[in-house]
Amino acid sequence: MIAIGCDHGGFALKQEILAWLDHEGIEYRDFGCYEEKSCDYPEIGHAVAKAVAAGDYEKGILLCGTGIGISLAANKVPGIRAAVCTDCFMAEATRQHNDANILAMGGRVVGPGLAVRITETFLNTEFSGEERHVQRIQKIDKID
Ligand code: RB5
Repeated sequence: MIAIGCDHGGFALKQEILAWLDHEGIEYRDFGCYEEKSCDYPEIGHAVAKAVAAGDYEKGILLCGTGIGISLAANKVPGIRAAVCTDCFMAEATRQHNDANILAMGGRVVGPGLAVRITETFLNTEFSGEERHVQRIQKIDKID
């Protein structure tokens, strides 16, 4: 189960991602926003991050204009590793190396076709589990 959310800058891109999740039969909860009206990305980012950190959802997807603001908010929640990705290499690497649990993208940065491929890569790539990566993530956790 995926937790997904956006602000107005990521709203149109979220509709594309939701359509792909529906097509693939991937279950999700949409945390909003539900219209293109201006809203504040920290609230949505925090809500999705809290739900993922609590273990209620396997992974999260967050969308704002750049992917940056909403990921900054999400990364304030202990246990969250939210990664802004603009290509499939980043999505694959952040899963394999960082065990990222939230994908963030920018609706004003990536087009819908690329965003769907990035999402697919993120959701289908496993953490490598290699010791050096585990240790580095533990060091991040200690900062929390
Ligand atoms: C909203 O205009 C914009 O600032 C927001 O979507 C995001 O890009 C922030 O990082």
